[in-house]
Amino acid sequence: MELSEIQNGMIRMALVALESVHEATYHHSIRTAKVSIHIAAKVDWCLSESDRASYLDDIRDAALLHDIGKLSCPTQILDKKESLTDRERENILCHPIWGADMLLTLPDKRLQRIARFVREHHEQPDGKGYPFRLDLDEIAPISRVINIADRFAAMTENRPYRKAVPTEVALEILHLDIKAFFGEKAGAVTDALVGFKMKPGLVHIPAKVLSASGTSYREVRESGLSLAAAH
Ligand SMILES: [Fe+2]
Repeated sequence: MELSEIQNGMIRMALVALESVHEATYHHSIRTAKVSIHIAAKVDWCLSESDRASYLDDIRDAALLHDIGKLSCPTQILDKKESLTDRERENILCHPIWGADMLLTLPDKRLQRIARFVREHHEQPDGKGYPFRLDLDEIAPISRVINIADRFAAMTENRPYRKAVPTEVALEILHLDIKAFFGEKAGAVTDALVGFKMKPGLVHIPAKVLSASGTSYREVRESGLSLAAAH
C-alpha cells in the first residue's frame, strides 16, 4: 500500500468520525477545505511546480482536519445556543491544540507536519488569536489561508442560530485581516473569494469524494464536484 493511500485512509477515518459525532462540523470542514483549495489554486504563490503540489495537498488536508479537535469537545457545548460559561469557552478554545495533538500521534510525517496549520487556524494577524496569541510573522502562510477560508465559510453558511451572510458582507468583515495576512497578494485572495460560488447553507459531500483511493486535488477539482461548480 502506498504512503498516500495510508494518509488518505487516516484522513477519511477522521472525517467519518467527525461526521458521526458532529455532522455540522463535518460539513463545515468540507466547505472550509473547498474555500481553502479555491484560494490556494487562484493565487500565484510564486512556488515551483513540486512545491505547489505539496502546498495544495497540505492545504486540502489541513483544512479538512482543521476542526478535528472538536471531537474532544462535548457536543452539548458545540450545540449550545446560550452564551458559554468560562469553562465551556476554555474547552472550545482548546480545539486547535487537541486537533494538532491528534495528528502528532499519527505515524506519518506529513500529517505530523500539517498539525501546525491545524493548531494555528484561529491565530489572528493582530496577535489576539488563540490558542497562543501568536504574532503575525509566526503564523504560517497555510494557516492564514485556512483562517480566512474557515471564517468565510462559517459566515456564509446557515447556522441554527443565524442565517448566512452575503459574500460581500463577509468580505467586508474579513477585509483588514486579508490585507494583514497576505500583503500584496490580498487583492488576489479577495478576488478568489469573490469568485467562490457556493449556495449558502450546509453542503453534504461524502468524505470519500475528497480523500478515498488517493483522490487528488486535481481529481476533486475536475470532478462533478469541481470548486467552481460546487453547489
Ligand atoms: Fe476551529
